[in-house]
Amino acid sequence: MNEYNPGKPPFEQLKEEVLGCQKCGLARTRNHVIFGEGNIQAPVFIIGEAPGADEDRIGRPFVGRSGQLLDKILAACGFTRRDHVFISNIVKCRPPGNREPSREEREACMPYLVRQIAMVNPDILILLGSTALKSMLGQDKKITRLRGSWLQYENRLAMPVYHPSALLRNPALKHDTWEDFKKIVFKYREIINPDHYSPHV
Ligand code: URA
Repeated sequence: MNEYNPGKPPFEQLKEEVLGCQKCGLARTRNHVIFGEGNIQAPVFIIGEAPGADEDRIGRPFVGRSGQLLDKILAACGFTRRDHVFISNIVKCRPPGNREPSREEREACMPYLVRQIAMVNPDILILLGSTALKSMLGQDKKITRLRGSWLQYENRLAMPVYHPSALLRNPALKHDTWEDFKKIVFKYREIINPDHYSPHV
């Protein structure tokens, strides 16, 4: 038969591939692969470190305490998961005990993130914390020095900010983080939508 069969959209194909991944040892201990969620054409792509226990149990990114704080920050910026952002992680499976993902795990998973970014095609990347910053822009990069500054990942703008879990451990970091997110809203208005409404910026 010569029927035209467009098959699954590429993003769905990628998701299927990632959900079946066996490229590193985390495949043996995970309950869920957390592919990511949000608008697959979002102008802003948020990159965390790795799923935690809540994410592994539920199968969605940033649903635990860090995620609730992230949602509050996004709401203050006038951003929603549905419309403005896509959220994923450097590694898609939970490292046992919430340890940092190893180099092997990061390297095995990175091609998925690279393909997600290419498909979503965002203008702005938000790098949450040190693991996201180092994995995307180089192991020598320091979050304390670079947070709040506009950097470049290939042809896209990238801003490192503190990870929400760091804010939970040390609330004194919230002030600087809010200054960083204000810069993101200003940039969003400058390059994406001058009429973007945000309740607090
Ligand atoms: N922390 C992360 O870095 N990612 C998640 O998805 C949840 C918590």
